[in-house]
Amino acid sequence: MAHMKPKSIAVFNSNDIYPVSADSTMPFEQHRDIFYLSGADQEESILILFPDALDQNQREILFVRETNEHIAIWEGEKLTKEKATKVSGIKTIYWVSDFEKVLFDLMTEADTVYFNTNEHYRQAVETQTREDRFILKCKKEYPAHNWAKSNPILQEIRGVKEPEEIALMQKACDITEKGFRRLLSFIKPDVWEYEIEAELLHEFVRNRSKGFAYTPIIASGYNANVLHYIENNQQCKTGDLILMDVAAEYANYSSDLTRTVPVSGKFTKRQKAVYEAVLKVKKEATNMLVPGTIWAEYHKEVGKVMTSELLGLGLLDKADIQNEDKNKPAYKKYFMHGTSHHIGLDTHDYGALKTPMKANMVFTVEPGIYIPDEKMGIRIEDNVVIQETGAPFNLMQNIPIEVDEIEDLMQR
Ligand code: GLY
Ligand code: MN
Ligand code: MN
Repeated sequence: MAHMKPKSIAVFNSNDIYPVSADSTMPFEQHRDIFYLSGADQEESILILFPDALDQNQREILFVRETNEHIAIWEGEKLTKEKATKVSGIKTIYWVSDFEKVLFDLMTEADTVYFNTNEHYRQAVETQTREDRFILKCKKEYPAHNWAKSNPILQEIRGVKEPEEIALMQKACDITEKGFRRLLSFIKPDVWEYEIEAELLHEFVRNRSKGFAYTPIIASGYNANVLHYIENNQQCKTGDLILMDVAAEYANYSSDLTRTVPVSGKFTKRQKAVYEAVLKVKKEATNMLVPGTIWAEYHKEVGKVMTSELLGLGLLDKADIQNEDKNKPAYKKYFMHGTSHHIGLDTHDYGALKTPMKANMVFTVEPGIYIPDEKMGIRIEDNVVIQETGAPFNLMQNIPIEVDEIEDLMQR
């Protein structure tokens, strides 16, 4: 509210429950913004923020779906007005059926409405969201008001994490650690990728995670070169590596881990050399995540470290570097994705990218080297919190990463 213009009102809608077909739906996932601002993890909830409302009680209002006995029997208990206050700290709770009436009254006092459009740098949403429908309706019904954007404010504040958020992310990482450790004694030649997925899901859910924070990638051998491989339906063969980009959510917060391990429990000499190169880039990149770093510059610096490692591995030679196009550096042949993204309520979270990094931003660090000709792809990914001074704090510091450690645990 401190970021809003005078006499302005901001409205935040929940996600729809998305249909599959016939009468089936996807499980509900709350829109991260209304969840972040209110804690209301229930469909159809609407949040209004109106810092200059003349009536003090109308400065924060949460609307929730009116519950009844029928709903209680079929869907279970929903938020009552008392519970809605308890989870959100908001005193004024109305049923969502009163939304139009209340909004009309507030709009007579307001000059500007903040709409919550999606400006995430990777957004590619094709469906019309509840938020989209609200915006269209509101523009039609209130054509004399000014419009403003909530998204830049949310990008800014959600990008810098509160201590409570970091604690939840640590918990998500700790559950991910349990899942990964379980795998180290489970993976054997001829295991199927989906069997690994099942082990992880079991470990995550029994630790009170809802499950994977994002669709898991369990890619053995050549599959690791398909960056978004999610079929997870192949058998893992002796001599191959398995790239696993797999992590738990906890309390709606994501973790995002990648580890690459040998099916047999022992890296070949070549696999180890490539692995060590990726690990070196990861360590050097991590140390660059300090207050003041600019995300795009950081990627250029990481590119230089990666280039040097690829030269060492004989994957690039001096001529490749001399002839490289600055807009498409030679290293991109083997490392074609970004090194870091914000992480939080969304796996690819909100957060300022063009301004200097700040303490308590949480980023992934995830370099990789992909060599289809050698049937091998290696990525290593941890999640780190930027500190006021010094190197970032690694939320995944206890998850095995060194070659010896992984080999030792796999062979036990
Ligand atoms: N697992 C998604 C990512 O690493 O960005
Ligand atoms: Mn990942
Ligand atoms: Mn990631």
